[in-house]
Amino acid sequence: MANIENVLVPNGLVEGRVLAKKQWTEKLFSLEVAASIESYVAGQFTKLGLLNSDGEWVRRAYSMVNHPEHAYGQDHLEFLIIADDNGQLSPKLNDLEVGDKLFVGKQPSGFMTLEEIPDYATALWMLSTGTAIGPFLSILEDDSIAKRFDSIVLVHAVRTQSELVYSDSIECAKNALGDKFHFVSVVSREAHPTSLNGRIPELLLKGEVQKQVGLALSAPDSFVYICGNPAMVKDTSETLLELGLTKHLRRKPGNFASENYW
Ligand SMILES: Cc1cc2nc3c(=O)[nH]c(=O)nc-3n(C[C@H](O)[C@H](O)[C@H](O)COP(=O)(O)OP(=O)(O)OC[C@H]3O[C@@H](n4cnc5c(N)ncnc54)[C@H](O)[C@@H]3O)c2cc1C
Ligand SMILES: NC(=O)c1ccc[n+]([C@@H]2O[C@H](COP(=O)([O-])OP(=O)(O)OC[C@H]3O[C@@H](n4cnc5c(N)ncnc54)[C@H](OP(=O)(O)O)[C@@H]3O)[C@@H](O)[C@H]2O)c1
Repeated sequence: MANIENVLVPNGLVEGRVLAKKQWTEKLFSLEVAASIESYVAGQFTKLGLLNSDGEWVRRAYSMVNHPEHAYGQDHLEFLIIADDNGQLSPKLNDLEVGDKLFVGKQPSGFMTLEEIPDYATALWMLSTGTAIGPFLSILEDDSIAKRFDSIVLVHAVRTQSELVYSDSIECAKNALGDKFHFVSVVSREAHPTSLNGRIPELLLKGEVQKQVGLALSAPDSFVYICGNPAMVKDTSETLLELGLTKHLRRKPGNFASENYW
C-alpha cells in the first residue's frame, strides 16, 4: 500500500486512526478505529479504505461490531475482520498497527437493522458465519430488544473453535436478556464440546439448533436474519423455505432476510 500520511481524502471518506487491535488468530482480528462518521444504527456497515501501491483507492464494506450508543461514543468504531490471503484490502488491514491511519466511509448504510423487522415477529433468530457475527453483536446491545422480543437466538458458525470470538459480549447479552437469549455455536472443522458440528442449513433441517435452544423455528412469529458467506446464505434461505418460512420483502412482509458478505 502507498504512504497515506499526506494524501487528499476523497469524497465519501474521512480520516481514521487505529486505536486498538486484537488478534484472535493469525488471520482474524478486531480493529478499533477513531473516525468521525455520520450516525449509524445497530447492524449497519461502513467502508474502510486504503491506497494500493498503484495509488488507487481500495474500499470494502465492514460492519460495526459495537452499538452506536456504547460508552466511547459514535466516533469509536469497532470492526471484526478476516484477512483473505488473496484479497486486496483485508491483508493490508491486518498489517495495520495502533496509531496507523486509514480511511472510513462517512455514510454508514445497510438494512439488516431492528427497524426493518416486521412488528409481528416475537422471536428473532440471527444466523451468522465467521465475521458476520459482528452486526448481530451490535444488535444484541440494543436496549429495545428485551422488550420487543420473547426470544432471541444467535447462531455463530465457524471453521475452528479459535474463531469463536467475543465470548465476553455474548456473556453480557446472557446477563442482560436472561432466559430470552440463546447462543448456539457451530464448529465445522473440528470437534468442540459445547458446539454443534456441521453447517447451519443441515442443522436447522434436522432440528438440532431448535432442539438446543428449546424453540421451534416457525412462521408466523419468527423472523430470521442470515449474514455471512453467500453460499451459506443461499443454502439457509432454501432450508427456511423448506421449513415453511417466507422471504421478507418491504412490499411483502415475510420471515427472513439476509446480507451477503461477498
Ligand atoms: C455489507 C458487507 C459487510 C461486510 N462486513 C465485513 C466485516 O464486518 N468483516 C469482514 O471481514 N468482511 C466483511 N465484508 C467483506 C469485505 O467487504 C471484503 O469483501 C473482504 O474483506 C475481502 O476484501 P479484500 O479486498 O481483502 O478481497 P478482494 O480483493 O475483494 O477479494 C476477495 C476474494 O475474491 C477473490 N476475487 C476478487 N476479485 C476477483 C475476481 N475478479 N475474480 C475472481 N476472484 C476474485 C479473491 O481471490 C479473494 O479470495 C463485508 C461485505 C459486505 C458486502
Ligand atoms: N477461517 C480461516 O481459517 C481462514 C483462513 C484464511 C483465509 N480465510 C478466508 O477468509 C474468508 C472467510 O473465511 P471464514 O472462515 O470466516 O468463513 P467461511 O469460509 O464462510 O466459514 C465459516 C463457516 O461457514 C460454513 N459454510 C461455508 N459454506 C457454507 C454453506 N454453503 N452452507 C453453510 N455453511 C457454510 C463453514 O463450514 P465448512 O467448514 O464446512 O466450510 C464454516 O463453518 C474465506 O474467503 C476464506 O478462504 C479463512
